[in-house]
Amino acid sequence: MNMNKKMFSLNNCLSLVVCLMMGFSGFSQNTAIKRMGSTDTQSFDDNWLFSRYGLQADGLIKEEPKNLEAVSTNETNWEKLNLPHDWAIKGPFRIELRGETGKLPWKGIGWYRKHFTVPASDSGKEIFVDFDGAMANAKIYLNGNYVGTWPYGYNSFRMNLTPFLKFGQENILAVRLDTENWDSRWYPGAGIYRHVWLVKTNPVHVGHWGTYITTPNITKEAADIRMIVKVDNATNQTVKAVVTTDLYEMDINDVAKLKVGSLIPRTVEINANGNKEVEAHSVLNNPKLWDLKTPNRYVAQTKVTVDGKVVDTYNTPFGIRTIEFTARNGFLLNGKRVEIFGTCNHHDLGALGAAINTSALKRQLVMLKEMGCNSLRTSHNPPAPELLELADKMGFLVWDEAFDAWKNGKKKLDYNVIYDEWHEKDLLALVHRDRNNPSVFIWSIGNEVPDQQNVAMTKHLADIMRREDPTRPVSNGYNDPDGGRSSGAVVALDIMGVNYFFSQQPKWDVDPRYEKKPTLGSETASTVSSRGEYFFGDPYNKTSWQISSYDDAFPGWGCSPDTQFRTNAQFPHLLGEYVWTGFDYLGEPTPYNSDETNLLNFRTDPSKQAELEAKLAELQKSNPPSRSSYFGIIDLAGFPKDRYYSYKSHWRPDVPTAHILPHWNWNERVGQIVPVHVYTSGDEGELFLNGKSIGRKKMEAGKDFRLVWDNVVYTPGELKVVCYKKGKQWATDVVKTTDVATKLKMTADRTEVFADDVDLVFVTVDITDKSGLVVPRSNESVKFSLEGAGEIVATDNGDATSFVPFQSHERPAYNGKVLVIVKAKKGQKGQFTVKAESAGLQTASTVIRIK
Ligand code: GAL
Repeated sequence: MNMNKKMFSLNNCLSLVVCLMMGFSGFSQNTAIKRMGSTDTQSFDDNWLFSRYGLQADGLIKEEPKNLEAVSTNETNWEKLNLPHDWAIKGPFRIELRGETGKLPWKGIGWYRKHFTVPASDSGKEIFVDFDGAMANAKIYLNGNYVGTWPYGYNSFRMNLTPFLKFGQENILAVRLDTENWDSRWYPGAGIYRHVWLVKTNPVHVGHWGTYITTPNITKEAADIRMIVKVDNATNQTVKAVVTTDLYEMDINDVAKLKVGSLIPRTVEINANGNKEVEAHSVLNNPKLWDLKTPNRYVAQTKVTVDGKVVDTYNTPFGIRTIEFTARNGFLLNGKRVEIFGTCNHHDLGALGAAINTSALKRQLVMLKEMGCNSLRTSHNPPAPELLELADKMGFLVWDEAFDAWKNGKKKLDYNVIYDEWHEKDLLALVHRDRNNPSVFIWSIGNEVPDQQNVAMTKHLADIMRREDPTRPVSNGYNDPDGGRSSGAVVALDIMGVNYFFSQQPKWDVDPRYEKKPTLGSETASTVSSRGEYFFGDPYNKTSWQISSYDDAFPGWGCSPDTQFRTNAQFPHLLGEYVWTGFDYLGEPTPYNSDETNLLNFRTDPSKQAELEAKLAELQKSNPPSRSSYFGIIDLAGFPKDRYYSYKSHWRPDVPTAHILPHWNWNERVGQIVPVHVYTSGDEGELFLNGKSIGRKKMEAGKDFRLVWDNVVYTPGELKVVCYKKGKQWATDVVKTTDVATKLKMTADRTEVFADDVDLVFVTVDITDKSGLVVPRSNESVKFSLEGAGEIVATDNGDATSFVPFQSHERPAYNGKVLVIVKAKKGQKGQFTVKAESAGLQTASTVIRIK
C-alpha cells in the first residue's frame, strides 16, 4: 500500500516535469476524433460495386461464377453503391419466408468490389482495411489474392493489404459474403452493413486496437492512469521507439480540448517483424468523472517516435469512473448505487435494416434516455462501434455481449459451426475493441446458450475475458430456472445473469457458492403489444395478427412490466433489469412466430414444452404475415407504445407523468365497458369522463404500477386523469373522441441536416381531425414526395404485419401515424421540402435546411 502511494507521488512529479517540458499546447487541429486508432484513418465506404449470387430476392438461384475476385472480372452489370449496405432490406417480404428472420430474403451470396488507388508517395507504408462488421463468412481478396477471412458477422476485424498492394496504381479489393451458410433467430441483415476504413501507418506503429487504458485508483483529487501500448514493427530490423502520450479533455463533439497531462515516456526495443507492449502511467489531478449525467471523456494521444521522427499518432478516447458490483447492495457507479434500468436491443434499425446509421441510432438512444433507460444490452452480439461511442457520450452503461450460442447451436448453422476455431479470436476482437469505452461495464459471454451448464466451457470463456480485461466483470444470460448454478458453471462468472426465471432466487441467495455473487435480470418481461390496438378479452387477434396494448400479453416465460417491477421490489439487492426489448426489431414476431428454438425457454419443463410445441404447429398452418417483433416498448418506426409511459413513470419517478390508455374513439361500444388504465409517476389519480368523476384510485408502493378503472362505460367525449403524489396534484392527461380525419400534420425531428449521406431526418405524419387531434385507428394511405436537394430514404408505420417495402414512398398510416426518413443529397447545399398527401385530406409539408 505504502509502496503504491510512493509510486503514485513519484509519477505525479514526473508527469508534471514532462508536462512542463512539452508545454500545454492543445491538439494541432480542432477536428473531431473519428474513432480510436491511428490518425490516418479514412472512410472507405464510397464507390463499391455489388453483385448477388446464390439465392436471389425472389427465391430463384443465380449461379455464382468462379473467381469473382479476379482482377479481370466483368463488372458490367454490378450495382454501384456506398456502404453501409444491407442487401436484404429492400425485400420483397415473402410470406413463405420465415417470420423469425423478418420474412426478408437475407440468404444469399454477395460480392463487393472496390477500385482504389493509394498514391506512390505512400509506398513503404502499411495499408490496412478495417471492417466494423460484414454479414457473414467474409472472405477478402486484393488484386485477386486471398487476404483473409472473418466468419462471425457481428465482429470488427482488420485485414492487412500491404503484401498485395500496388502503390500508385489501381487496386481491386473484393469481398465475398455468404449468408446461406449462416442461421439466425432474428433478422441479421446481409452485406457490408457497417463502416469500412482505410488505415495507413508507417511500418512502426501502434498495433490494431493496440492501447488499453485503466484507472486503478480514483479519488476526488487524483486518478491513476495506466496505459498499455502495443507497438508493431513491420520492418526487417530491430527498432528503438519512444512512446509518449498526452491526455486531453474531449468535448461532446469529439474534439480534444484542454491538455491535462502526459504519461511518462517509454523507450522500447522491438524485434524485426515483431511487436512489444509498453506500460506507462501518470496521475491526473482533479479528474472529471464519467457518469450517466455528466459523461466526461478524455482522449489519450499516443505518439511513436523513431530516430527523432514521429512515425505514428494514435487516439484513444476513454473515461474515468469506478464500477463496483455487490451481491447485497446492487451496482455502484463512482461509489453511488445505480439501479440498472436497461433495455435489450437488437442491432437492426427498422426500415433501414441492419445498415448502421448514427442518426438513427442516436434517435433511438435519445428516446430510451428520455424514458429513464440507463443501460443497454447488445443482445446477442458485439454492437457497432457507433453504439458504444454514443453510449460513452450520452451516458449509458453497456452490457457488451459476445454470443447467442457456443459449441452447441440453437440453429443448425449457428456460432456452433465456427466455435472451435473462432471463439477465442472473436472474444479478443470484442474485448480489445471495446475495453477503453467507459460505457462498457459488463462483458457477457453468452445468451441462453445450450452449453450454459458446462462448467469447463464457462470458465474457459470467462477466463479469456478476464485475462484481457480484469477491470470488468464477466456474466452470461441464463434461461434455465436454476441457471448454471446447480452444475456450478456460474462459479466461474463474476455476475449471474437471469433471464425471466427469478423464482429460484431465494434458494440461490443462500447457497454458499453464490451468496456473494451479484445477480442481474439480464432479460425480463417480454411483454408483447401493437401500438394503438386495444382488444377486450383475448389480447391476441389472429385475424389482424396484432396484439392488444393493455400490456397484459406475454409468452409463457415472460410477464407484464408491472409483474416484473413487483419481482424487482421483492429482490432489491439485485442489480436491476434489462427489458426485452426497447425497440421492436425485424424478425422474431412472437407469439406469431413458429421458431422452434422458443422451446429452449422451457428446457427443464417438458409439459410446458409440449404445450408450446402444439401451439407452434397450429400457428404454422395459418402462416401469419408477421415479420417483426411485438416486444418493443417503442415500435419499429420509433413511435412509443403505451408501455413507454409505464417504464418512464417507474424509472423517472421525479418527472411528472400521466398517460391514459386506450384512445377514446369507440363508436361501436357506446354504452359498453371500456377499461381505462393510467400509467403515472404519482401514487393516486382521479378519472373524469366529460367532467364527471369516475372515482379516485391509489397505488400501493411496490405492488401496483398502474391505475385501473375496469368499469368505465363508454360515452364519447373527454377522458381526463388528474394524478397526485403524496396528496399534491402531480400530472394530468387527457384523451378526446376525435372528429373524422381531415388533415395531415407533419413534424420533423430536426429542421437542419448535414449533406453527408449519413445524417437523417425523421419526419412523423399524423392523421388528424380538424382541431389537430390524432385520429386513432386511421389508416389512410399517405404519399410522400420531395422537392429540392434531398432524398426519401425509407418509410414505416410500425405495423408488424405490413408487406409494403420500406423503400416505398407511399404507405398507409398505422393507427394514425406514419414515418418518412429523409436525407440531403450528398454534398448539396440549400434546402428541400418534404410533402405528404392523402386523398381527401389536407396536405402537409416541411422545409429542411442543409447545414
Ligand atoms: C429470450 C431470448 C431472446 C428472445 C426472447 C423473446 O429467451 O434470449 O433472444 O428470443 O426470449 O422473449
